[in-house]
Amino acid sequence: MIYKKVLAIETSCDDTSVAVVGGDGQVFAVVSADQDLQHQPFGGVVPEIASRNHTLQVLPLVDQCLSSCRLRFKDIDGIAVTSRPGLVGSLIVGVVCAKTLAWNYNLPVVGVNHLEGHLLAPFLRDESYQPPLGFGFPFVGLAVSGGHTQLYLVKGVGEYEVLGKTLDDAAGEAFDKFAKLVGLGFPGGVAVDQKASSGDSTKYSFPRALKNDGTLSYSFSGLKTSAQKVIQQMSGDQLQQALPDLCASYQEAIVEALMHKLNLAVDQQGVSRAIVTGGVSANTRLRKAVQDWAEKKGIQTVVPPLRYCTDNAAMIGYAGILRLNRGEISGHELTPSPRSYEEDFRSGESR
Ligand code: KG4
Ligand code: ZN
Repeated sequence: MIYKKVLAIETSCDDTSVAVVGGDGQVFAVVSADQDLQHQPFGGVVPEIASRNHTLQVLPLVDQCLSSCRLRFKDIDGIAVTSRPGLVGSLIVGVVCAKTLAWNYNLPVVGVNHLEGHLLAPFLRDESYQPPLGFGFPFVGLAVSGGHTQLYLVKGVGEYEVLGKTLDDAAGEAFDKFAKLVGLGFPGGVAVDQKASSGDSTKYSFPRALKNDGTLSYSFSGLKTSAQKVIQQMSGDQLQQALPDLCASYQEAIVEALMHKLNLAVDQQGVSRAIVTGGVSANTRLRKAVQDWAEKKGIQTVVPPLRYCTDNAAMIGYAGILRLNRGEISGHELTPSPRSYEEDFRSGESR
């Protein structure tokens, strides 16, 4: 059987998202609800609040998604759902919902690794976005968000190798912790980005950890500590005055670290294509740095449109339909896991 359309559900963190996607990556509809307002007072995602909100939002979003593309369950061939990695209480909501709909409408269900979704996002297509001509495998993928900062070699569908990852905080987490420290709220990446636009990035010198260690690992926890030390010595007024420069310098340290290891990964793997994806790829400075780097190096680089970079169900639907079309069905024993399965990614050492 050829699967033509799947309904996809993503609830791995604090965004509830539902999409209908075709086998060629066509996104018929994607609808999402974030929970930023609910988590803001706590300065971070509260797992219990996240799962409760998924419970409230997921079924109305399924209805909204189907009606916005004028489809019904009889037009759907299968269901894809993020089953790993993520907050387990959040994943449970999506997985239970997917299995119940699958049972009710007699459809097959497939569990998808959230990171596989991010890595296949460049292949999605809709009215205003198509994968660039000639883009394909193999490529180096940098997934950079509030939860992950990882470099992959993507050789094909289902052939992913982790090349390197953060040893501590994710880059988005580093943005968010800094934003909290200087009173810019949560999630603070966007606010730091905006403040940085009028700042001088050379004003403060923040560390670029692991820069010359030759590995593809990242580390961002020292950066926050170093910013903390600078800020502690300032009065409230001084901090307000220095904020644009502090944001620009802090942002530059993150962007430089991300770009340095991306460049190293491309050199080590000898590939001519790369992607950057995840919520942090919304960052203005990072986007510019990626574009300049790609032009200078002659590397075809895709940063998918923001709607497919941040957590969304369309990317899960595409990964899911590819798996269903390869005969992979999860069945009703599908269970969520906070971690990836061993078989999802090969580690560099096992090559
Ligand atoms: O992919 P995403 O929506 O959710 C996950 O974390 O999985 O990414 C959210 C992260 C947050 O840490 C947020 O602060 C960061 O992406 N972010 C940004 C920007 N927009 C979002 N970081 C820096 N600059 C931005 N413009
Ligand atoms: Zn994500």
